[in-house]
Amino acid sequence: MRNVDEDTITQIVLASQAGTQGPRFKQIMTSVVQHLHALARDVELTEDELYQGIQFLTDVGHITDDKRQEFILLSDTLGLSMLVTALNSRKPAGCTESTVFGPFFVANAPRYENGDDVANGAKGEPCFVSGRVTGLAGEPVPNARIEVWQADSAGFYDVQYDGATADQGRGTLRSLEDGSFHFRSITAVAYPIPYDGPVGRMLEALGRHPWRPAHLHFMIEAPGYERLITHVFRAGDQYLDSDAVFGVRSSLIADWRHHEPGKAPDGTNIDTPFSTLDFTFVLNRAAIVAPRQSDQGGASESRAAAGNWRMD
Ligand code: BEZ
Ligand code: FE
Repeated sequence: MRNVDEDTITQIVLASQAGTQGPRFKQIMTSVVQHLHALARDVELTEDELYQGIQFLTDVGHITDDKRQEFILLSDTLGLSMLVTALNSRKPAGCTESTVFGPFFVANAPRYENGDDVANGAKGEPCFVSGRVTGLAGEPVPNARIEVWQADSAGFYDVQYDGATADQGRGTLRSLEDGSFHFRSITAVAYPIPYDGPVGRMLEALGRHPWRPAHLHFMIEAPGYERLITHVFRAGDQYLDSDAVFGVRSSLIADWRHHEPGKAPDGTNIDTPFSTLDFTFVLNRAAIVAPRQSDQGGASESRAAAGNWRMD
């Protein structure tokens, strides 16, 4: 084609994509072109501004590696991740709401038994977490795979430390027969998302701060139920209404109860202040039950650990 101009170029580009493989990819690429062109027209984008945008994305790419995922930070801080989460996790009232995954999940985290300390040396005030996994009718969900991950008291995940080798502040465990679970960890604190790169510069230019309110990440899976990816946020945190990644839902805010030194829920004596948290996760029934190997559990996993750490 020749003599493409500002009035014809969008249709001409779309026509050039007529042979796109797959209807879904075609739908997405059509929309990408339409929206990019609409943006350029809307703001009368200059060539210099286009170059600056390309340079910004180049910087995002350059700082990204297997430990630092700046593209996820970009998607998160622009609200795209939370929008996609919301679009893909509509569920009945009463189910625990989903929120962003974030960039600090690490596959193959260590397995723990109920009662174990998932901090595994991560620094912070002790915290005893208990809870239950249920379905919408209140039925207990036993043997649910519960994955938890969190930052330490300095606001860093284990993978953010240079040369980190041990998994700290992350792990998986299984709910017991009555759907309950309990583990020891450290008290969550507010922390800034990494802001020493292009996304941090973008936030500054937008007059925004990089902080997230204190939270624990959870991913919960059980046969017959939808996978739940969520956080539990700490009530009273100053950033609950200005989360840098727009992830807070009121239903996910819980009290971390403060305790003076003394007897802890696991029966030990703790000589520092500690906290306790109790939270019930309500899973949505899966539309299609597709058994997978990871749903089957393993003989080595505990189903027998007794007791519960509620401090009512
Ligand atoms: C997080 O909570 O781990 C997180 C989420 C989005 C961006 C950065 C961090
Ligand atoms: Fe986090």
